[in-house]
Amino acid sequence: MAKPSEYRSGCDPRTLRDALGCFATGVTIVTCFDDDGNPIGLTANSFTSVSLDPPLLLVCIAKAAASATPLTQASHFAVNVLQTEQRPASITFSTFVEDRFGQTEWEKGELGAPVLMDSLSVFECSRHAVHDGGDHWILVGEVKKATFEEHLDPLLYFRGRYRRLHFD
Ligand SMILES: Cc1cc2nc3c(=O)[nH]c(=O)nc-3n(C[C@H](O)[C@H](O)[C@H](O)COP(=O)(O)O)c2cc1C
Repeated sequence: MAKPSEYRSGCDPRTLRDALGCFATGVTIVTCFDDDGNPIGLTANSFTSVSLDPPLLLVCIAKAAASATPLTQASHFAVNVLQTEQRPASITFSTFVEDRFGQTEWEKGELGAPVLMDSLSVFECSRHAVHDGGDHWILVGEVKKATFEEHLDPLLYFRGRYRRLHFD
C-alpha cells in the first residue's frame, strides 16, 4: 500500500485541510435574519449533531465570514441540509454573489429564520451557545423544529468536491 500523506503541527495548513477533507460530509446552508431584517446565509459542512436531550446541534462559522456576526447574534437560525439538486445554491452561498437569496427560493420559517425550499431537511433552532473555536465560532443551536424529506438524496462533499451517493 502507498505511504499515507502526513501532517504534523506546524506543517502547512493545506495538508491539514487535505487530511480533514477525507471526512465525507453533507452540505448545509445556515441562515438567519440580521438586525435590519435582511436574510443572511452561508454554505457550511461543519454541521454536527450534538445531543438528543436537550436536542442540540452545532455548526462552525469562520470568524472572518461576513455572516459571522449576524449568525452568532441572531436569536434563531436554521440549518438547511442540501439535496443533490441544490448544488447551485451551495455554490451561490459560498461565493461572492450580490443577492444570494434572490437566486434561491425561500420563505420565512415558523421560528423566524429563512428556510430554503426543497431542502433535504431543515433544523430551525434557537441560539443555545456560542463557543470560541480558534478562527471559527462554534454555534450551538437548540432544535425547535425539524422537517425532512424521505425520498431525496443528499448533496455530499469529499476531498474538496461535490459528490453523490453511488450505491443503494
Ligand atoms: C462545501 C463547503 C463547505 C463550507 N463549510 C464552511 C463551514 O463549515 N464554515 C464556514 O464558516 N465556512 C464554510 N465554507 C465557506 C463559506 O461558505 C464561504 O467562505 C462563504 O463565502 C462565506 O460567506 P460570507 O463571507 O458572506 O459569510 C464552506 C464552503 C463550501 C463550498
